[in-house]
Amino acid sequence: MNVAFLTTECFPYVKTGGLADVSGSLPKALQKLGCDMKVFLPLYDTIKTIDNGLYVNEEFKDIPVQVGDNTFTFNFWEGTLPDSDVTVYFIDCPHYFHRGKPYTDDKDEDERFIFFQIACLETMQRLKWSPAIINCNDWQTGLIPSYIKFNYNWDELFKNTRTILSIHNIGYQGRFAPSTLQKAGLNYDNFYPEGPYELDSAFSFLKAGIWFADLLTTVSPNYAKEIQTEEYGAGLEGVLQMRSKDLYGILNGIDVDIWNPEKDIYIPYNYSADKVDAKYKIKKHLIKEAGFKYDENIPVIGLITRLTGQKGLDLIMPVFHELMQLPIYMMVLGSGEKKYEEFIERAADAYTDKFIEYVGYNNELSHLITAAADMFLMPSLYEPCGLNQMYSLRYGTVPIVRKTGGLADTVHDYHEHNNEGNGFSFEDAQPYVLLETVKRALHVYQDKKEWKKIMLRGMKADFSWDKSAKEYYDIYENLVK
Ligand code: ADP
Ligand code: GLC
Repeated sequence: MNVAFLTTECFPYVKTGGLADVSGSLPKALQKLGCDMKVFLPLYDTIKTIDNGLYVNEEFKDIPVQVGDNTFTFNFWEGTLPDSDVTVYFIDCPHYFHRGKPYTDDKDEDERFIFFQIACLETMQRLKWSPAIINCNDWQTGLIPSYIKFNYNWDELFKNTRTILSIHNIGYQGRFAPSTLQKAGLNYDNFYPEGPYELDSAFSFLKAGIWFADLLTTVSPNYAKEIQTEEYGAGLEGVLQMRSKDLYGILNGIDVDIWNPEKDIYIPYNYSADKVDAKYKIKKHLIKEAGFKYDENIPVIGLITRLTGQKGLDLIMPVFHELMQLPIYMMVLGSGEKKYEEFIERAADAYTDKFIEYVGYNNELSHLITAAADMFLMPSLYEPCGLNQMYSLRYGTVPIVRKTGGLADTVHDYHEHNNEGNGFSFEDAQPYVLLETVKRALHVYQDKKEWKKIMLRGMKADFSWDKSAKEYYDIYENLVK
């Protein structure tokens, strides 16, 4: 079964968040199940072709794509996802993809991803490669179902192609002016209030995908339910309810080779559920590096995140000073909105002996903090799946989360009476509830034996792609039948 996996970020080439991790690992798992996977990705200027062993396809060059009144050409490069035989095609168009970062606020953001989507289909045509399934991801690939239905239906190559849209975050909807329809080469007949392309008078790529894809998936069972409600649907709950029977919630897996405390190449000591002591050596190492006074009874709370409203920073800020009166160290790694970056910088200035931050993106440090910390804070307002809590569980770093989306599916609140739970969670999106939950975790932390049991429950759980990739495989197969 030929499967095209269209994505705008993919680890290890380019990453802003969890979509990259999924794109770098799910196709590998599906390939093992027997799919012939091909990943399609823009060739951003940050992706180094030589370092990644990519080579340009010499047979087809300067392929034209018309976006509105402009025509630009592209070449495509080929590579292989590390430790696999999954081919990756990189769409190379410097005009659109040399911007220093994958996503921008530039006024041609619509054109950039219209170009990408058309270029993917043009590449498949050049290669005479007929996909049984095109798995789209997020709004940047939301027009593909329309293209397959309307613009490319003349081509035998796509006669049996079925489309799936995977929603990783309903908050990013690709909203543009209605005039973008012309640039996309789509029919205005489908633009009317409440219709396939219209959302609050704008043209939404995500809505177009939700409307026309043959099937929809999202990244956890709980989020699949949530996005059909007004509270979490971000204006798309209506169309999602309409497509309810075609919407599947499949929990993301993690790459258990990359995120493995036994083999992790970024941490100074490796450890496992059977030999957990080395974890404390990493903690000590990082605390010394941070210049703090080491006290083994004081836990480290880690926080690694894109700094956006979604991640619940607004629940932390109002109780931050109270939080810092507690016996904790905090290690924060993040980048994003300026107000949050400034907040963590000020916090580090105020609490030099217990709070350390790194503003920016740093893959190595994300592994180090995940391994060194005792607890991981993730108070998201909404969280489609969340990978950090699963990485933390695997590293014996007990998550403290808000019970929402995929966090509710993966983190189970500890209760002293039932001997269960792999973390701590709270429901009310209130700062003082977060504070109380941290206090609850600190209290249990004092009981070393009990704490270790909680850690081990997380470390021993299976978060690999094995089960979830099979779920994708099954829905592909049903769709093709
Ligand atoms: P989201 O995709 O919403 O950002 P996820 O939990 O699914 O949330 O995935 C986030 C991914 O991005 C994780 O792999 C996390 O380690 C990584 N990450 C987030 N911020 C940073 C950062 N500043 N430096 C390095 N890695 C980061
Ligand atoms: C999105 C979501 C996150 C999810 C990731 C991968 O970025 O915010 O919860 O884990 O996609 O699916």
